[in-house]
Amino acid sequence: MKKICFLLICSAFGINAYGQKTIDQKVSELLSKMTLEEKVGQLVQYSGFEYATGPQNSNSATVLEEIKSGKVGSMLNVAGVEETRSFQKLALQSRLKIPLLFGQDVIHGYRTTFPVNLGQAASWDLGLIEKSERIAATEASAYGIHWTFAPMVDIARDPRWGRVMEGSGEDTYLGTQIGLARIKGFQGKGLGNIDAIMACAKHFAAYGAAVGGRDYNSVDMSLRQLNETYLPPFKAAAEAGVATFMNSFNDINGVPATANTYILRDLLKGKWNYKGFVVSDWGSIGEMTYHGYTKDKTEAAQKAILAGSDMDMESRVYMAELPKLVKEGKVDPKFIDEAARRILTKKFEMGLFDDPYRFSDDKRQKDQTNNQENRKFGREFGSKSMVLLKNQKNILPISKSTKTVALIGPFGKETVANHGFWAVGFKDDSQRIVSQFDGIRNQLDQNSALLYAKGCNVDDQDRSMFAEAVETAKKADVVIMTLGEGHAMSGEAKSRSNIHFSGVQEDLLKEIAKTGKPIVLMINAGRPLVFDWAADNIPTIMYTWWLGTEAGNSIADVLFGKVNPGGKLPMTFPRTEGQIPVYYNHYNTGRPAKTNTERNYVSAYIDLDNDPKFPFGYGLSYTQFKYSDMILSSADLKGNQTLNIKVNISNTGNYDGEEVVQLYIRDLFGKVVRPVKELKGFQKIFLKKGETKIVSFNLTPENLKFYDDALNYDWEGGEFDIMVGTNSQDVQTKRISWIK
Ligand code: BGC
Repeated sequence: MKKICFLLICSAFGINAYGQKTIDQKVSELLSKMTLEEKVGQLVQYSGFEYATGPQNSNSATVLEEIKSGKVGSMLNVAGVEETRSFQKLALQSRLKIPLLFGQDVIHGYRTTFPVNLGQAASWDLGLIEKSERIAATEASAYGIHWTFAPMVDIARDPRWGRVMEGSGEDTYLGTQIGLARIKGFQGKGLGNIDAIMACAKHFAAYGAAVGGRDYNSVDMSLRQLNETYLPPFKAAAEAGVATFMNSFNDINGVPATANTYILRDLLKGKWNYKGFVVSDWGSIGEMTYHGYTKDKTEAAQKAILAGSDMDMESRVYMAELPKLVKEGKVDPKFIDEAARRILTKKFEMGLFDDPYRFSDDKRQKDQTNNQENRKFGREFGSKSMVLLKNQKNILPISKSTKTVALIGPFGKETVANHGFWAVGFKDDSQRIVSQFDGIRNQLDQNSALLYAKGCNVDDQDRSMFAEAVETAKKADVVIMTLGEGHAMSGEAKSRSNIHFSGVQEDLLKEIAKTGKPIVLMINAGRPLVFDWAADNIPTIMYTWWLGTEAGNSIADVLFGKVNPGGKLPMTFPRTEGQIPVYYNHYNTGRPAKTNTERNYVSAYIDLDNDPKFPFGYGLSYTQFKYSDMILSSADLKGNQTLNIKVNISNTGNYDGEEVVQLYIRDLFGKVVRPVKELKGFQKIFLKKGETKIVSFNLTPENLKFYDDALNYDWEGGEFDIMVGTNSQDVQTKRISWIK
């Protein structure tokens, strides 16, 4: 008790138990010495000059001068021991010697790249995801980076939006769990540790709901929907102590997120009591003028700071406008102090005032280049992110002694493409990337032949290579076709209206199919693609996303059965673009179709089945899993009780394997309509051939809560369907009553 009182008294006086100053007190002292310009300087972030992740406007000479005079708080796209040291050196020439923060988009790995994030989400493996970010943080921090602009926790239901590759898909629950795992991975044992980097929950908010899936487009939705579907991953990130947030480019119901007082002041910094800082997205403060929200850059700076955007990434309006606005009495200096305090606090927490160069260490950097342990992990993660969509004739796995295998398609010998979008740590070729050809060749028996034909380019109309590809296929016992979309066709500013295989790839596939040879189709993409013809005509299909540095090895491990695939789709796959947005947790409507093909006076298209091509949560294995009847602890619950759900899962096939057991609920009626299904839990289990395991879930009233139209978050008594299954469509259901 005495000890607690002592600690409380100490913290009230801004000192810790050892008589040292707390970070809060150090920040106050520093702020008291700073001029207005120096404080605003902390709110400024510029990009480095060699590499840009947005429309660049850096004038290198003036930026270097500004750093020296304390007018810059942070740089992005500056990395590597040498470069970070030289920039930090400049910052330490400023009057108060405040170190710079170096930020970078470490999105799916750094030197070792891992599957694109949507592919990672397909693993449904929180342990692997956390570990991948731990490795990314270890590598990035060794390259002098303090801060990653990740995780992107935007929920997205529209595969036309190119940035779905960077998120965790369409589901709020899954997206929240994955976001938390990523933050844990990046921030490790806590800021201040040498291998911990600051994470950033982005893009706040609702960026994934851009109208028509067109990047940067507007978002118009009810606050109820915003709170229920799009904000939970952010709220969870704030509660988990994510160091920073990033604004989104879009407006929400007419107010740009960058100056949106409701989400920034009322929710994030108000109700959620968030203590980290908010960085704008690239240029998003200045862009409010283009939105038509502010008449000029002056008003943009004013509205952004008042709403709670703390750092200006590359708009260059904070330094130009804020000192003037304060002097004219248009911005209360307390807003500048607040923003500077939040940023300086993080610099102290990162230990940068103790040693501004502590992240820039040659030996660490060398150890984290081409690190074999990290690559080994990348190989495993790649194989566990793949999703087996079809294996009708059990063509997979392929025997290593197959006499002649043909690899056909434009991605077979690609290296850099395997990174997918966002591979900023790849500045030279010292990090070897394993092509699909090499991966397969390395595992195929010495006496077997691996033939190769490109067949066509990724995205043009050239059919001149078809004939050679057909001849190659004819010589093979098995044809592996590697098709999809270009690696830079998903990602930022990469929205597509047509999400089929690009160019003439589908025509190539049809030509090869005519040979009658067994075909394994591997689909490389950063988003769900539309491939109706292939899905109906090719018996074996594997979704490989972009798997990163070790792609070829991961793919070969799965093709030859060293790894049994267990991935499940984190997004619904549409039949055709006209079906978008299509997602599993939709409302029932007043005229639901009872069958997939019902058309008349029901909510359906007259020319399309209602079901998607592949549902959310779907994915096969080389083995089979049998679910027993589920057992509920009760069918009549009251108040704060807990419902237990148990089901036995048996591996009845011929391979050991992993299964993701999924729990959904449906609240049958409510104050506001509820989705036909909501994911409430999942467990990934490993079962040896012939093994059975009991999987058990608990539900409490907390899991039944939702937002009503007045934004009250609560649950209602009533009837609920409890569903357990192998994907969002294939479930068993039991009804319960739960009285409040
Ligand atoms: C993207 C962000 C990214 C930033 C810095 C922006 O264009 O939207 O996600 O972190 O650039 O590269």
